[in-house]
Amino acid sequence: MSRYEDFYRRSTDQPEAFWAEQARLIDWHQAPTQILDASRPPFYRWYVGGQTNLCHNAIDRHLAERADQPALIAISTETGSERSYSFRELHAEVQRTAAVLLELGVQRGDRVLIYMPMVAEAAFAMLACARIGAIHCVVFGGFASGSLASRIEDAEPKVVVSADAGSRGGKVVPYKPLLDEAIRLSRHKPSAVLLHDRGLAPMELTAGRDHLASAASQKHAQAVVPCTWLDATDISYTIYTSGTTGKPKGVQRDVGGYAVALAASMKHIFDGRAGETYFSTSDIGWVVGHSYIVYGPLIAGMATIMYEGLPTQGMDRQPDGGIWWHLVEKYKVTVMFSAPTAVRVLKKQDPALLKKYDLSSLRALFLAGEPLDEPTARWISDGLGVPIIDNYWQTESGWPIITLPGGVEGRPAKFGSPGIAMYGYKVKIVHETTGEELTAPNEKGVVVIEGPTPPGFMQTVWRDDERFVNTYWKSIPGKLVYSTFDWGIRDEDGYYYILGRTDDVINVAGHRLGTREIEEAISGHANVAEVAVVGVADALKGQVAMAFVVPKTGNAATDSAEALKLEGEIMKRVADDLGALARPARVRFVPGLPKTRSGKLLRRAIQAVCEQRDPGDLTTLDDPATLQAVRAAVAAG
Ligand code: PRX
Repeated sequence: MSRYEDFYRRSTDQPEAFWAEQARLIDWHQAPTQILDASRPPFYRWYVGGQTNLCHNAIDRHLAERADQPALIAISTETGSERSYSFRELHAEVQRTAAVLLELGVQRGDRVLIYMPMVAEAAFAMLACARIGAIHCVVFGGFASGSLASRIEDAEPKVVVSADAGSRGGKVVPYKPLLDEAIRLSRHKPSAVLLHDRGLAPMELTAGRDHLASAASQKHAQAVVPCTWLDATDISYTIYTSGTTGKPKGVQRDVGGYAVALAASMKHIFDGRAGETYFSTSDIGWVVGHSYIVYGPLIAGMATIMYEGLPTQGMDRQPDGGIWWHLVEKYKVTVMFSAPTAVRVLKKQDPALLKKYDLSSLRALFLAGEPLDEPTARWISDGLGVPIIDNYWQTESGWPIITLPGGVEGRPAKFGSPGIAMYGYKVKIVHETTGEELTAPNEKGVVVIEGPTPPGFMQTVWRDDERFVNTYWKSIPGKLVYSTFDWGIRDEDGYYYILGRTDDVINVAGHRLGTREIEEAISGHANVAEVAVVGVADALKGQVAMAFVVPKTGNAATDSAEALKLEGEIMKRVADDLGALARPARVRFVPGLPKTRSGKLLRRAIQAVCEQRDPGDLTTLDDPATLQAVRAAVAAG
C-alpha cells in the first residue's frame, strides 16, 4: 500500500487517532478531552473540552521564533502601495484593532461584519475578532446593498468594519454609500460602524454610529489585548454562500477543528513551510481568502501576500501582465493559489512575461473554485514549469476535499481531475434518486460525503440547524450523507472528475452565485412578469448568467429599441442590488418561459438551448412554443 493510501485509510478507519495526532500541529491552552463527539449526527463536534485561539496560533505562537520575519505583505496595484508587517507588527496592529472593537462594546460571541477591500486592515479586523472571540462575517466587497443588507439582517452584527472605498482597474468603488443603504434596508441596525478612510472617496459620517478607524486605533496604539481562550467548538466565523433558494446561508465554522484542519492542510496538501511566503490571489470575501490568505499561511508561520488589484496591472498602475510573477520573484513565493479564470486572463498576455522573472522559488501553483480546463492547465504548467494542482472544495468544507496531497506523496496529476479524496473525507458517488452508491468506475452520480465530516467542515447553518440538516444531509433519499450538489465520476484509479452543479448555483469567474438571487433582483423591476436565469458556458469566466424575461407590458420581445432600454434597466438593477459580478451577460425577452405542466421552470432545457446542446427529454414541457421562443431569442444574438 502506498504511503498516502495508508495515511488516508487511517483517517477514515481511525478518525480519532488520526485527528488527535494532527491536533499536535497547533497550540492548545487546554488539551481536548474528547477528539470527536459523533453522538448527534450530522452535528460532529471536534476536540471537545479543548481550548485554543485562532489568532494565537496565527500570530502569538510565532513570536518566539520569528517575530521579525514578514507575516503579512499588503500590496495594492490600485493605489500603488506595498507594505510588509512582521509577526511583531501584525501582533501590535491586531491588538489595536481588538482594543477598538472592545471599546465599541464587542463581546465574545458578538458578530462583527467586515465589508472591506483587500487591505491589511481587513485581515487585522478578522484576526482581532478571532483574538477576542467575536464572530466575524466577511462580506465580499464586490457585493452591493441588497446582498449586504440580507447578510446584516441575518448576522445581526454589533459592529460593521468598512472603508470609504475599494478600487478595481483604477476605478474607485465607494463602499460607504452602499453600506449606508444596506443598513437602511436592514431591519437590524449595528450599533457602531468603524471606517477606514483610504482617502479614495468622500464619506459622510453618521454621528453617534460611525467612527474613524485611524482616530480609534491611535488611542489604543499601545494596546495589550490577550487572546481569549475559546472552546474548540465555539464559533469562529460565518460566511455567506449561495444555494438553491434566494436566501444566502451563513456557513458556520468552529475554532479548534478549523485551526487543526488548516495546519494539517498546510503541511500535507500545500507543503508550505514556516519562514516561506504564500501568495493566494483570492479575496477575503471568499472562503479561499479566509483559509488561505489569512489563517492557513499564518498558522503555518508563513508570510502571506494580500493583493488588491487586477492580475494585469503594475505598481505604477500601467498595464503589466507580469505583476504576479514579479511578486513571486520579489518575495520568493513558494506556494501560490489562484483560480482558473485568472490564469485564462493571463493567457491573453505575452507568454514571454513568464520567462522574464526568476520563479525558481515556486514549488507549486494550486487552482480552485471552478473546473480547470486542459488548455489552461497546460499553458500555465508549460510556462511555470512547476506542478499545477487543481483542488476541489466548497465554502462548506473550508479546505480541499479532492486534490493531490503534495506534502504526503507526489501523485501524478490527470488532466481534468482535481485528484483523489483527501484524508478525513469519505467521498462517495451516489445515484441521484435511489441514493444507491455507485461503485463501478466512471458512473455519473452526485458527489457526497459520509459522516463524520472532518475538522474544519461547517458546523451548521448559522441559527438554522434545520436548514443545515434538510438542505445538505437529506437531499439523497434514504441516507444521511452530505451532498456537495456537484455531479461527478470516479475512475478506476480513484481520481474524481467534477461535472457541474446539480442545483441552481452557477460559477462566474470562480465566484459562486445563486441564480435564484439574481432572479429575485430582476423580478423587482416593475415591468418584469417572469424571469429565469441560467448559467451558460463562457470561454473566459467559466460561466456567465443569462436572463430570460417575460415583460409585463410593451413590446420588448419584438421591439429591439425597447428591449435594449429594458435590458439596461434590468442589468443596472442587478448591479445595484447584488453587485456587478451578478449582472447577467444578456437579458433576452420572450413571451413565455418553458415550464412543465405543473408549472416548474425548465431551467436545464433553457441552459441547453443557450449552449447549443440537445435539451434532452421534453415530455414534461407544457408548451413547445416557449422553448422555440427561447431558441429564437438566442439565435437573434
Ligand atoms: O461546483 C464546485 C465548484 O465550486 C463550488 C464551491 O464553490 P465555493 O463554495 O465558492 O468554494 C470554492 C472553494 C475553492 C463547488 O461545489 N468547484 C470548486 N472547486 C472546483 C470546482 N469545480 C471543479 N473543479 C474544482 N477544482
